[in-house]
Amino acid sequence: MNRPAAARSAWAIVPAAGRGERFDPASPKQYAPLLGATVIEWSLRALIAEPRVLGIVVVTAADDSRWPAIAARLNSGKLRHAVGGASRHASVANGLAQLESLAAPDDWILVHDAARPCLTATELAALLDALQQGAGGGALLAAPVSDTVKRESDGASAATLDRRGLWRALTPQAFGFARLRQALAHAARTGIAVTDEAQALELLGDAPRLVAGSAFNIKVTRREDLATAAVILQMTGAQRMRIGQGYDVHAFGEGGHVTLGGVRIEHPRGIVAHSDGDVVIHALCDALLGALGQGDIGLHFPDSDPRHRGADSRIFLREVVALMRAAGLRLVNADVTVLAESPRIGPHRAAMAANLSADLGVSAALINIKATTTERLGFIGRGEGLAASAAVLLDVEPPSASQPGS
Ligand code: CTP
Ligand code: MG
Repeated sequence: MNRPAAARSAWAIVPAAGRGERFDPASPKQYAPLLGATVIEWSLRALIAEPRVLGIVVVTAADDSRWPAIAARLNSGKLRHAVGGASRHASVANGLAQLESLAAPDDWILVHDAARPCLTATELAALLDALQQGAGGGALLAAPVSDTVKRESDGASAATLDRRGLWRALTPQAFGFARLRQALAHAARTGIAVTDEAQALELLGDAPRLVAGSAFNIKVTRREDLATAAVILQMTGAQRMRIGQGYDVHAFGEGGHVTLGGVRIEHPRGIVAHSDGDVVIHALCDALLGALGQGDIGLHFPDSDPRHRGADSRIFLREVVALMRAAGLRLVNADVTVLAESPRIGPHRAAMAANLSADLGVSAALINIKATTTERLGFIGRGEGLAASAAVLLDVEPPSASQPGS
């Protein structure tokens, strides 16, 4: 199949079938508690949120009892499951088998350790960008070695390696589906215990591209790494916030009411619009879509679609909220301004906030609705129409927050 690089879809495999011998064999590290969730939930976060990743196979040990409850809590349609093998590469091979009927031979397969909870959306995007820009032989996140590296002999430093050109391999690592399967089968035949996928590809003579990842993308290997991961996740919290703004205008026309924030308000003039012309909700939808990086309301609910004629805009809002949840994000707060000479907003403010609160799934206290006239200036001042602007802030939903009682 000879599709252009940009058309190659991406899938992910997250091997999570290890025993964590260096961590605590009695409690596998991928399920260790970390900031109100488990390590694996954090490790999956960026993959779930990245729209270019179509599906994720989590590979767990045959006797694993923890994954089903976590999968239910994450509640992402992207998640699939496979049972792991005795070695990491056997686990990855089982994950590949699970993708057999879904992925094309040249689709990208990203392999990401369940024990790397600090992967950021930015790093993941950089890897996918490198693939789209023509890293045909695959690519891996990696960080240059900055310490002097010693070779040990009987507890003593026997030699110093030249660290120039040395990189630490991180994950995700991404390769074409068929080539990765071939490489893993080849490594298994040779009996070489590869410790990452790139090594299996190297054994075939491939040279995957090194994409600079973050030194914060650590692997939880020993107990003490958990504290480091918690600090990193807390510190990088700001990068997980998203801001969005929206603006919408409608002209007054025939009719005897306007709809604002889902509230029907009697008014001497109606609104000219394809839908119900609710500028508050349209501005809010655009702000949310902006924060999600998913275009605007016209893209998702085109005027040309007869289903949207006279539509209750709250339906649009609920669909946008579903997109937000699918991206693993939640609303921190929303601030809306209505610009109109009339109607007066004050008497309807609480009812509008109650509607928005119900649709957004947050307390009405997090939704502020303001109104202003434009001092009789411009089209709004002349009473030709009205407008609304909205600003929203989103952040990553703490993985367990959606679990009642947790
Ligand atoms: N892994 C796997 N199947 C195996 C071995 C490892 O899916 N048979 C996964 C681990 O769960 C982990 C990733 O591969 O997410 C990286 O491996 P590693 O850090 O070595 O984890 P463990 O093998 O669990 O740890 P240890 O080597 O300390 O036992
Ligand atoms: Mg291991």
